[in-house]
Amino acid sequence: MIEMRHVRVTFNAGTPLENPALRGIDLDIPAGQFLTVIGGNGAGKSTLLNALSGEINVSAGRISFDGQDVTRWPVAQRARWVARVFQDPLAGTCAELTIEENLALAAARGQWRSLRPALTAAARATFRDSLARLGLGLENRLQDRMSLLSGGQRQALSLLMATLQPMKILLLDEHTAALDPKTAAFVLELTRRIVAERQLTALMVTHSLRHALDVGTRTLMLHQGRIVLDIAGAERARLDVPDLLRLFEVAQGEPVTDDELLLG
Ligand SMILES: Nc1ncnc2c1ncn2[C@@H]1O[C@H](COP(=O)(O)OP(=O)(O)OP(=O)(O)O)[C@@H](O)[C@H]1O
Ligand SMILES: [Mg+2]
Repeated sequence: MIEMRHVRVTFNAGTPLENPALRGIDLDIPAGQFLTVIGGNGAGKSTLLNALSGEINVSAGRISFDGQDVTRWPVAQRARWVARVFQDPLAGTCAELTIEENLALAAARGQWRSLRPALTAAARATFRDSLARLGLGLENRLQDRMSLLSGGQRQALSLLMATLQPMKILLLDEHTAALDPKTAAFVLELTRRIVAERQLTALMVTHSLRHALDVGTRTLMLHQGRIVLDIAGAERARLDVPDLLRLFEVAQGEPVTDDELLLG
């Protein structure tokens, strides 16, 4: 479904600050697969997501969705395929607008007809319905400003907003990192549910090795702009957090003291 071929992203090319953030990514992701993505700071995880959303132009290579070459498509054109949720609970929403206004804007995403959110009775009923399914009681707070909500409530709403429109690919960039453990677990569970219900193809960047193994069915590790580990199935099921941590350390170039740690 998602196909990346020899994708390179080089920031500040041809200058002393040249920075090859992605150095030849080859990746095939079947429709409906849920991947987790790990890697150290600066490994290229966000850049990978930005390349998929069209936020940054790739320097070389090709990206296609369902066989359609989207490499040169701008963000707006990819919006009917791709939606994102960021680490900052404020990033995906308008703090000064009410919950229902935020939802109306999200529902109108990609449509240029009007900037005025359509808040008809029917729209409100739909929003109330979707909000009730979050189980947070937000269906009774449609007119509350977004800024009144907690980080977890905002992330739950960001997820809902990201997936209101028809879309197929959900990109999550450390979307639970700013949340306390209990709230993070709630938002993760909600993520799982939405991805499964909507049969989305999803990539979730996380610094939690536990979440990386618990969520989804495949895990990628990035290091210096390359995929250094790509595991799924039985191989992944066998891994525990300490194993993954060791693989992580090996990828970071830390001394290997025990060959067994490389898991054959
Ligand atoms: N817009 C940009 N302009 C210049 N360099 C950038 C830009 N965005 C990212 N980079 C650089 O590209 C490299 C990869 O960054 P990226 O944000 O993808 O890392 P990451 O794996 O998401 O890290 P983190 O875990 O810290 O979020 C880094 O060296 C970063 O400084
Ligand atoms: Mg990042």
